[in-house]
Amino acid sequence: MDFASTSTPTQRCSSCWPIPVPKKEPKRKSNKAPNRESRPDTLPEWKALTRLAADPVGQALTEWLQRDNRFEDFSLQLPALLMDYSKQRVDARILNALLDLARARSMEANIEALFGGAPVNVTEHRAALHTALRSPAGQQPGEARSVVEPTLVRLASIAERVRSGKHRGYTGRAVTDIVHIGIGGSHLGPELVVEALIPIHGSDPRCHFLANIDDAALHSALTGLDPETTLFIVVSKSFGTLETRTNAESARSWFLERTGDVAAIARHFLAVTANVEAARAFGIPEENVYPLWDWVGGRFSLWSAVGLPIQLAVGPEAFAELLRGAHQMDEHFRTAPLERNGPLIMALLSVWNSNFLGATSHAVLPYSRRLRLLPDYLQQLEMESNGKSVHLDGSAVRIHTMPVLWGGEGTNGQHAFHQLLHQGTRAFSADFIVCASDEAATPQSLEAHHRWLLANAFAQSQAMMSGRQEADPHRCVAGNKATSTLVMDELSPFAIGSLLALYEHKVFCQGVIWNINSFDQWGVELGKQLALPIFDQLDGKPARQQDASTRGLVEYVRRRLQERRNQEDKHV
Ligand code: F6P
Repeated sequence: MDFASTSTPTQRCSSCWPIPVPKKEPKRKSNKAPNRESRPDTLPEWKALTRLAADPVGQALTEWLQRDNRFEDFSLQLPALLMDYSKQRVDARILNALLDLARARSMEANIEALFGGAPVNVTEHRAALHTALRSPAGQQPGEARSVVEPTLVRLASIAERVRSGKHRGYTGRAVTDIVHIGIGGSHLGPELVVEALIPIHGSDPRCHFLANIDDAALHSALTGLDPETTLFIVVSKSFGTLETRTNAESARSWFLERTGDVAAIARHFLAVTANVEAARAFGIPEENVYPLWDWVGGRFSLWSAVGLPIQLAVGPEAFAELLRGAHQMDEHFRTAPLERNGPLIMALLSVWNSNFLGATSHAVLPYSRRLRLLPDYLQQLEMESNGKSVHLDGSAVRIHTMPVLWGGEGTNGQHAFHQLLHQGTRAFSADFIVCASDEAATPQSLEAHHRWLLANAFAQSQAMMSGRQEADPHRCVAGNKATSTLVMDELSPFAIGSLLALYEHKVFCQGVIWNINSFDQWGVELGKQLALPIFDQLDGKPARQQDASTRGLVEYVRRRLQERRNQEDKHV
C-alpha cells in the first residue's frame, strides 16, 4: 500500500493520505506494461535479495546455529509470547536486506495509514480499522470512537444477562445452549477462541457452531437441543451469505415447529450484522441486533460483536482480556522499530521463504489441542487476504503472493504428514506454536503430557533444521528447513489476543511488500454467482448453456437421484 509510490491518479482522504483512484476496468488495455513502481520486484532492494538467495553459503542453517548468540539475536519478546526465528534461513545480512525492502515499501507510513483509518482497502474505498475495536476507550480514530464503546457495553450486558439467567427463554427457562450461525470470518475466530478457552473457563451456556450449508451440520448442531432453552445468534456482516441465510431460516423453522410462537423469536434470536434492515426483515427485532461496520473486514471481525459467543460462553472479562492482548500487540506493531517489529519480521521471513527460497506452502503446527482450529482460522486470514494476483493499481503481479497455508495439531501431524516435511521434495516454511505452561494440565499426573508435547515440538523443528546424514539414502533427512517457534506464556485470553493480532499484522505487512490489497476478496464472488443456475438445474429447471463437464455432473447426479426415487417407490 505504498500509495506515495504509485503513479495511479490519487485523491486526498480526510487524513490527507493519498488514495489511488481505481480505474474503470474495461478501459485498461490487457497488454499494458505494469507500472514499474507498483512492482516490488523491480526495486533494487528486491534484486539485492535475489542475489543473496543465490549464494549457497548463505543457506547453511546448521552452521549458523553453532553460534552461541544465535537464539538471542534471532528471537523477540512480544506481548505474552516469544517469537523464535533462529531456525529461519537468515543471517544479519539477509535480515538487513529484507528490512531495506520494507523501508523501500514505506512500511512505517503504511502502518500509520492503517491505524489512522485511511482507506487502505482501495477497491472498496474502506478503512480497515479492526485495531479500533480493541483500542482503549476514547482512543479510536474517527467514527469508531462513538460506536465501539456503546456496542461493547451492550454486548457485555446481554452476555451477563444470559449467563446469570436474567435473560430467559419464552417459557421462563434460562438459556443452556447457544447456536452460532455464521461462516468464514463470521465463524472461524469465535469458534477458535471458544474452543481454546473452554478447558479453563468452562462454557456456560454451551456453544454450538453452525457454518456449513450441508444439512448434516444443521442436524448435528440442533440434535438434542431444547428450543425453550436455546439462543440463536445469526452472524453475518452482509446478512446475505447463502449458507448463513439458509441455516438461519432452517433454524427458525425448527424453532417455530416446536414452539408455534412467532413472538418467541424475540427472546431466542439475536443478530450481528452491518445490514440491520435485512435482520429485521428476517424477524429479529432491532434491539436484538448488534452492529458491525464496513470498516471491519469479515476475517478481522472477531474483536467486534462477532465475538459475542466468546462473551456468552466464557464471559465478558475473558473477552476484555482478549482485546487487551490484541491491543498490546497493536501497540508493539505501531511503535517498535522495524528491526524489532514482530509482525514485520514474520512477514519478511515469509517473503524470504516464498519469494526467494521457493517455499510453496506454509505449515501452521500448533502443539496444543486447544489451538487445533488455528490453521483453519489462519487459512482464511492469510489466504483470503493475500491470495491475490494484481497490484493496487490493477497491474499483474510477476511474483508469487501468498503460498498455500495448511497445518494441523501436533503431535498428531507427526504420525501423518510430517514425513513429507522431513523427506519430501517441496520447499516449505512452518510455524510451531507451543505454550510454555498449560493451565489445563496442572494436576501432577498430567504434567508429563505437556512436557512430551513440548519435547516433540522442539524435536521436530530440530530435526527439520539439522536433518541427518546416513549411508542409506532412504534414511537421510536433508534438514535446512526454515521454521519459527512461537512460545506463548500460557493459553490465556490475553495471549490468544496477542497471537491473533500478530498474524493479522503479518498479513498487512506482506500485503504492503507485495503491493496488493489484503482487504478485499473479489475472487470468492464468481463461484457464488455460478452456483445459482446450477442449483436450479439440479432441481430440473431449464438449463442455461453449461460447459460439458458441469452439464455432465448435473445430469449424472440427477440420474442417480431418479434411480433412488424409483427404488424407494418400488418398496412403498
Ligand atoms: O465469501 C467470503 C466471505 O465474504 C468472507 O470474506 C466472509 O468472512 C464470509 O464470506 C461471511 O460473510 P458474511 O459475514 O457477510 O456472512
